[in-house]
This record gives sequence, structure tokens and C-alpha cells, in this order.
Amino acid sequence: MTGRIPQAFIDDLIARSDVAEVVGARITLKKTGKNYSALCPFHNEKSPSFSVNPDKQFYYCFGCGASGNALTFLMEHDNLEFVEAVESLARMQGVQVQREERQGYQRSEQQHRQQKEQADQRFRCMELAKEYYQQVLRLTAGELGLNYFRAKRGLSDELLESYALGAAPEGWDGLKNHLSQAGFSEELQIELGLVVKKEDTGRVYDRFRNRVVFPIRNIKGHTVGFGGRVLDDSKPKYLNSPETPLFQKSQELYGLYEARKQPGRLDRLLVVEGYMDVVALAQQGIHWAVATLGTAASEEHLKRIFRLVNEVVFCFDGDAAGTQAAARAMQTLLPLVNDGRHARFLFLPTGEDPDSLVRKEGAGLFEQRVNQAMPLAEYLISYLRQGLDLSLLDDQARLAQAAMPLLKNLPEGLLKRRIVAHLQELTGLSRNDLQPQGSSGLANQAPVTQVYQPASRNKTAEKTTRTLPAEEKLLRLLVGYPDLVTQVPLGLEFDSQRNESAQLLQGLLEYLRKSPHITTQVLLAYWSGTAQGEAFLQRARLALELNREAAAQEIEAISHHLINRKTEEQVEARYSDLLGQPETTQLPMAEMQELWKLVQQKHLKS
Ligand code: UTP
Ligand code: MN
Repeated sequence: MTGRIPQAFIDDLIARSDVAEVVGARITLKKTGKNYSALCPFHNEKSPSFSVNPDKQFYYCFGCGASGNALTFLMEHDNLEFVEAVESLARMQGVQVQREERQGYQRSEQQHRQQKEQADQRFRCMELAKEYYQQVLRLTAGELGLNYFRAKRGLSDELLESYALGAAPEGWDGLKNHLSQAGFSEELQIELGLVVKKEDTGRVYDRFRNRVVFPIRNIKGHTVGFGGRVLDDSKPKYLNSPETPLFQKSQELYGLYEARKQPGRLDRLLVVEGYMDVVALAQQGIHWAVATLGTAASEEHLKRIFRLVNEVVFCFDGDAAGTQAAARAMQTLLPLVNDGRHARFLFLPTGEDPDSLVRKEGAGLFEQRVNQAMPLAEYLISYLRQGLDLSLLDDQARLAQAAMPLLKNLPEGLLKRRIVAHLQELTGLSRNDLQPQGSSGLANQAPVTQVYQPASRNKTAEKTTRTLPAEEKLLRLLVGYPDLVTQVPLGLEFDSQRNESAQLLQGLLEYLRKSPHITTQVLLAYWSGTAQGEAFLQRARLALELNREAAAQEIEAISHHLINRKTEEQVEARYSDLLGQPETTQLPMAEMQELWKLVQQKHLKS
């Protein structure tokens, strides 16, 4: 099992990231004095009530109350799980996520710094390679490449610049020498796939030679790989970077960084097959195309896409290979299309690809095709009914049979209900016949509270609320509203010896005081897999049903009560301490006076 991510690592990550940068990469921020303001991405509004405070490193919406730090913003805006958000933030900084080991964080801290340094160096090396190819494109050595881009592909200088396109010269060691002179080791160049080491001879030479080069940038804009195309008909037509510590094909989408860099809101993405399709579309003004890198769209690709936009259109060739690719994309897509997400399929005329088509008919007509592309539901049904004659009972049954595994993967919701209804119409079969075994829609749709609070437990929870010890009450309130930790006075500490609640509460307080802007979800994710996590989860299920305002008041009241109790207890302890001295000991004057005061206090009280 992977260990917990150390708190120190997360704190560090948050400390080093800039909430304004993270938020600003996703929504348009306007500087207003020290802060930034924007239309809130979490609720619909016409005038901006969302504010980002770079000093305190948090955001807050006066409209809907959404608030948090860089990490929670990633979770909520990009729809990420806690660990995914940490990973995403780490990726932006080019560091690897730490997991807790038995040796503790002492060693990890150092490892962490080393890894960060290593990642920086890799990025720097890739960046230099990218710049090198760009420079070559403007030299005699890159003349053929430049002509190819301009004349054969109709690309403008502006576009070459914005996609950072370049050229690899002829010869074996142009890049290698350039990088070595800058102090990057051959080992590193090999690791990054920039140069190749021949197994038998041990010779080391440039991977990309005499090709035009497309840098592949990750979502942060760091170059993580390259694609290179020949200038003629030789083979292989495209050469790509191998998988490296920086580059995984199933993760990256070519053109995504460039698409997001465009001004304005990105609300849909077009998924195409090739580098050239992406740049040709951009050249014609369609800046929202991305390409998978010689592979089918993976689940990670699609998840990433849906974190950014709610609408995706897949482009396929009209031929047999395209049809097959579409079916595969649909299978990957199905589990991810919950309500609010839309996917469509665009089939191009045989022999055309987006590059050829958009250059032939222009952006307007191409965009029209995109707008009219086949919705997922329609595609699914046409896919299922192909080759069947639905006037035949046998074929109706076949359709239902084929539909089941697909429906099973589709999340419950409007889309699924529509598809089922449509299939019912086509087959005359009942809804139950079409529902796959073992996935009764009801179970999936049960409200969360029902899952969390089995009836048997419900009663006891209610009955005991009134007599809960104060620590337990406070614990439940804070698990429910972690950011209300600000209502707990700093001086309030708990003696872990007292009881389990106090022990949990003390741990929770220490954590929340360091990370005050988190949600219950983050809290649970952070502790998941530990005994405390289990205990917090249990409290989350039993959370007191108070709204935020009432919870804040309750927290304040309990804190007050606990502080009083603490003072009383301290008085009591000191009193018995002073009284408990052997009779022969003469108390010093100061202590005599103190004891006398305590005696008075006690008597005044009772
Ligand atoms: P295509 O062969 O369809 O190329 O490959 P294209 O995009 O139309 O290219 P042009 O128009 O001839 O320049 C589509 C994608 O498949 C991958 C590349 O990612 C390419 O963009 N591919 C193709 C390779 O990785 N290697 C190859 O040899 C060919
Ligand atoms: Mn092409």
C-alpha cells in the first residue's frame, strides 16, 4: 500500500504554489487593489463576487461562500480527488509526490529537495532542446523545414511561434553538442529521449534528425516530449519521444497547453488524431483541438478533458479504422459521461482529415460540422443496431443483449434513462429486461445520507447527541465544518490522555490550524487509510445536523465552555498540589498567598 502523503510535503507544496496563479490559469482574474476578483466559477453570476487574496493565499466567494486554497481550488474546479489534486499541484512544480515511509519525513525532506532539483534540471534540458529546434528553423540548417511548414502546410510565423515549432538539422550530433555544452550530461539526454544510445556500438546520437519538430508541452507549459515529421515520404513519417520520467503518452494531449493559453473561456475540446491537425485547425482559428499521441484516447485523457470542459467532440476518419476508433472511444467514454457532460462524434468524409478539410472548406464550415456532430446517445444506438433488423424478434433480443454491458458502464442519470427509453421503444422490451443484472439503478441513486447512516445507527446517533461529551461534539462539528477551526481559540488544547475524543480532537486541531481552508472531503482524504481517518469518517457519518451558522455558534459556545472547564481544572489541580505537600514542608510565602486565593475562589463558587 502506498503511504500517506506527509503533511510537511503538502504544506510545502501549498506554500510554494501561488493560489492566484493556479486560479488564474483556470478563470480570468482581474486585479483589484491587492486582491483579484472574478466571476465565481462555482455558481452562476453576472457580477463578480469571487475574490483571490494572494497575501493570505486563499480565495473566497461572497456569493456562494466557496473558499479555500490552491489545493481545494484544484479539487473543486478541476473536479479532482484529494490525492489527484496534490499530484496535479506537484506536477505543476515538477516535483514527485512524497509518501510517508517508516524512516519518517527527515529523509523524505531531503529526498524531496533532490527530486525537485532533478525535475528542474530535466525541464531545463527539455526547454533548451525546444529552443534549439526553434533556432534551427531560422537558420540555413532549417530552411527546408521552414519552407515545408510555410509552403506545404500553410502555417504563419505567428502560428510557428505560438506552437513553438522547430526543426532538427541533418547530422548526428547537433542537439547533443548543444546540450552538452550547456552542461547537461549525456545520461540525462538519453533519459529524456533526446538522444539515442546504440546498444551494440555504444554510439550516442540525436534522435530527431532532418525533421520538423513539434514540442509536446504539459498543461503547465513545460516541454515534456517531441514529435518529429519527415519532410518527404520516407518512413517512419512521425517519430515521437519515448516514454520518459516527464512524458507518458496516456497522460498528455498535444495542443492542450496552447488551447488553454488562448484568451477567453475554453468550453469544449475537439479531439483529433495528429499534430498537423491541431496546428492546421489553429491556423484557421480553431484553437480548441487536441491530439492524442499516436494512441487511442485513454481514460486519463478523457478525465483530464472533462476536468477542463463539459463538452468534447471526437473526430474520426470516415473509413473502417475510424469506425473502429470511434467504438473504442465510446467504450472509454461511457463510465465518465454523467449528466452535464456531453460527448459527440464527428465522422469526416473518407480520405479527409481535419487538416485537409479545414484548409479546403475553411473554419466556418468545419465548425458547422463540429456543431452538427452525432451526440453520444445517438451514436451508441446506431452502433448497437447496425446490421440488425428490428422487425425481427431475434434481432430485438440481440440488441438488448448487446446493450446491457454498455448500459452497465453508463452512470445513472438523464442520459442513461433516455437511452434506455429509446431502446425500449426499439425493442418493445421492458426497462427491467434492459437493466443489467446486479446494477439496480436504485442502489446507485440512493442519497448519500442513506448510505452513510444505516437506519439502526440513526436512532442511537440522535439519542446520544444531547449527552455527548463536549470534546466529542466539537470533534463532530469540526469534521463537518473544518474551516470553522478559526472559531476555536488558539489557546484551547486537549489532553490526549482524557479520552478518545480528546485525543482525536487534539490531532485534528493541530492539522486544521496548519491548513484552515479545507473541506471535509480533503480532511477525510488526507487521513484515509489511518486509524484516525477511520474515526473521522465515522464522525462525518454521525455529523450533527446543524447549518453552518449554527455550527459556528455551537463551536464558539463549546470552546468557551471548555476553556472555563480547563481553568477550573487547573485551579483544582494546583489546589490539591499545594495542599498535598507534606505537613512538615513550610510553603513559601508566594505559594501560601496563592493557596489562600484558590481557597477563596473555590468557596465563592460553591
Ligand atoms: P497520420 O499518419 O494520420 O498523420 O498520423 P497526419 O496527422 O495526417 O500527418 P500528415 O498530415 O501526413 O503530416 C496521425 C498521428 O499518428 C501518429 C502521430 O501522432 C500523428 O500525428 N503517427 C503517425 C506516428 O506516431 N507515427 C507515424 O509514423 C505516423
Ligand atoms: Mn494529415
